[in-house]
This record gives sequence, C-alpha cells and structure tokens, in this order.
Amino acid sequence: MKHLVAPSLLSANFLDLRKEVEMINKSDADWLHLDIMDGVFVPNISFGFPVLNALKPMCQKPMDVHLMIVEPQKFIPEVAATGAYMMNVHYEACTHLHRTVAAIKETGMKAGVTLNPHTPICLLEDIIQDVDMVLLMSVNPGFGGQRFIEYSVDKVARLREMIDQKGLNTWIEVDGGVNLETGKRLVDAGADVLVAGNFVFKSSDPIQTIKDLKAL
Ligand code: DX5
Ligand code: ZN
Repeated sequence: MKHLVAPSLLSANFLDLRKEVEMINKSDADWLHLDIMDGVFVPNISFGFPVLNALKPMCQKPMDVHLMIVEPQKFIPEVAATGAYMMNVHYEACTHLHRTVAAIKETGMKAGVTLNPHTPICLLEDIIQDVDMVLLMSVNPGFGGQRFIEYSVDKVARLREMIDQKGLNTWIEVDGGVNLETGKRLVDAGADVLVAGNFVFKSSDPIQTIKDLKAL
C-alpha cells in the first residue's frame, strides 16, 4: 500500500490549536498523531483527554492516539470516547497485552502495539496476528525533535519480513526523527505510516512538507 503520513501534534503551536488542526484538515495528512505522556512511563508530560475531546468535533482526520503511559488499559473507554481511530499502547507498559489488545478492539478502535527502540521485534511473535499496527519508536519516547536512531531502518525491514512471512497485513508505523531523508529509507524498508512532528510543524510551509512526505 502507498504509505500514510501522520503529523504529530506534539510540535504544534498549543496557543493556536484550532489553526493547526485546520491546517491538518486542509493538508494531505492521512491521520493526526496524538501523544499522551504521563511523566512516569516517559520523562515528560504532554496533554490528555480534555484536549483530545476539544479536538474531536473539528479534526477531520482519523486520530492516531499514542499512549506513553503506565497501565494504558485503564483508559480504553476514555480513548474510545474521543472518537480515536487507533489506540497505541506500549509493549513495555502492558503486563497482559493480549487482553488489552482485545479490549481495545472490542470498542471498535484499531489496536496498535508500540515498541521502544531497545525492545526486539521477536517479542511480537505471539501477538502480531492480533494487532492492527506495530508502532516502532525510532527515538526514545518523550520528546519531539530528537535525533533518529539509525538501527530503526533495519528493524522495519525485519518486521516487514515477519509480517509478510506470516501472511498478515499488519501496518508498520514509525515515530521519531522522521524527515524526507529518514522517511524515504523507512518507506523503502517497508513502513506503512510515517509520524512526523518537528519536521512538519516547524517547517515554513507545513502543507507542502506533508505533501513532500506523502510523495516519498
Ligand atoms: C515522541 C513522540 C513523537 C514525537 C515525534 O515521544 O511519540 O510522536 O512527536 O516528534 P519528531 O517527529 O519531532 O521526532
Ligand atoms: Zn508518538
């Protein structure tokens, strides 16, 4: 499939979220990526459900919610209530991942499982058939604007191989340090969805930057 682009709101101007979401609505972005952090699972705090619920009536793109929090299973109903399309939970934060994935899907949302840079893809061997998407972190989660971890390209290629070998159509999303150069290599390695925060929102022409990412 042609890859998708999901700008991450974390790098947007929070004083003018309405304008930022209107820009996303007008753009070629496929999804809007939303990063929720709790200051425990990651060393930073971002925004939570009040912000997502405020965006709900105005965001015309499917919401791709990335929970960087401990015990994400506690918040499945809250995420579903925001109208989210995809709920991503971290492998490292879920003791009963199989149960959590099933509970996410029961609400009608798609279920994504996220791996930190150090978490090997072989750990997905017995769950991948149940998940809609694997989100590979290509930076350590918690902040926008970090440097891309090179090894991620190889990780995408190996995950692509695992998915193809099993005859699945699980999507691969990559998050962190994505720009035109890293994005191209990720797409060539088999990524289906590119998340980009800084590269989109700090650019002088975000609409064109999204177009450029789509054209890779
Ligand atoms: C990082 C977040 C990312 C972040 C990416 O913890 O999960 O979604 O916004 O930002 P960039 O694209 O600037 O690396
Ligand atoms: Zn993210």
